[in-house]
Amino acid sequence: MAAMASGGSAQEARYSASGDHAYKRWPRYRDASEGLRNYWYPVAFSKSVGRKPVPVTICGEQLFLIRHEGRAHALNDRCLHRGVPLSMGKCWFPGTISCPYHGWTYDLADGNLRAALVDGRDSPIVGNKSVRVRTYPVEEHGGVVFVYVGDGEPPPIEADVPEDFLRPGVKVRGWLRKRRGDWRYAVENGFDEGHSTYLHRGVVWTWIRRKPAYRVVHVEQEGDWLVRTVDDVVEQVDYPGLGRWPHGFRPWQRNVVVRGSVRLPGWVRIQWPDWTAYEVFMGTTDGAHLSFMFAVSHAKGLKAVLFGLRFWLYIRWAYMWQFNRQDQQMIEQVRIPPERLFRPDKSITVWRSHCERNARGLQGSERETAVRLSDGGDPAWDDSDVVDDSDVGVAGPRDALR
Ligand code: FES
Ligand SMILES: [Fe+2]
Repeated sequence: MAAMASGGSAQEARYSASGDHAYKRWPRYRDASEGLRNYWYPVAFSKSVGRKPVPVTICGEQLFLIRHEGRAHALNDRCLHRGVPLSMGKCWFPGTISCPYHGWTYDLADGNLRAALVDGRDSPIVGNKSVRVRTYPVEEHGGVVFVYVGDGEPPPIEADVPEDFLRPGVKVRGWLRKRRGDWRYAVENGFDEGHSTYLHRGVVWTWIRRKPAYRVVHVEQEGDWLVRTVDDVVEQVDYPGLGRWPHGFRPWQRNVVVRGSVRLPGWVRIQWPDWTAYEVFMGTTDGAHLSFMFAVSHAKGLKAVLFGLRFWLYIRWAYMWQFNRQDQQMIEQVRIPPERLFRPDKSITVWRSHCERNARGLQGSERETAVRLSDGGDPAWDDSDVVDDSDVGVAGPRDALR
């Protein structure tokens, strides 16, 4: 969909010429190729964040995670001096990180420059208030690190994260992967009724499940979620001039009704009878996305142990790998615009309209970029206290970088 974001092009003309103007109904959504801004996102498992920096690209923004005295911190992964990733640096002093290039040393808690190691203890750049690496609000729940990617005061995390993750004692397991394809195709796929009875045949996960010809659904809003609700299940159809399909069912196959839901900024929820699958899709860069899949269970005692076994022996490979690989293969192949939608795509268009109306902010839009550049810390090209332009005899750094 990066092509979509380029706007006004031959793509657009081709799209109009197709007679289907549908995508023009969602201009904000169309432009959100890097993701949605001003939301809390899950970015790592707590156990994977320690004293070694963990780089993460989310919504087109490069940051890194690191833990100090038990607390996880998130900082922009770019040294203000020459732009080298701080995640390649070292922690010489507790609570700081030093850039690998010239040793600028930043405070993990507030991003302030604490020392410029090769410029001595009286370095004038230290203490300059504009030299501060951006830090991100961080919270940990259920063994997952959540980061707020946005501007200003973040909303309470309850506004963005399903309450399942916030309940004490919750057991969250899952899988974080970077995958090819636009994050929006992944969310749309997760809520797409049309493929759910067709694509997922022939894998272990659906072996015991009866896949009907189609289901009639409508979408309801329940709190923050849009829920796909089944009105009718049509098991077999006699297609005019073609014959019956599906050709038959195995005697052991049963109908299993699950509820599929979606919410901002890109969560998909599948409610199985005794556990819940959550999938979060987040833009990165270059048309790729982060996919974070969770299995959440509130079982206790022996049941919790059994669920753990079931996850590692079955759910992780049969559902998160094999079943979801079918989705992934399609997500990678989507080429729109143009597109021609059909009746089952109602689930997708309802989600797009919801996004269009309610998304807090778009990542990478001109407005958002302006906000980020003016927030005083990133990137700080104001090095007037170091470089005297008349001495150096070249254009100022600001001009040089234009
Ligand atoms: S690039 Fe980081 S200290 Fe020079
Ligand atoms: Fe699917």
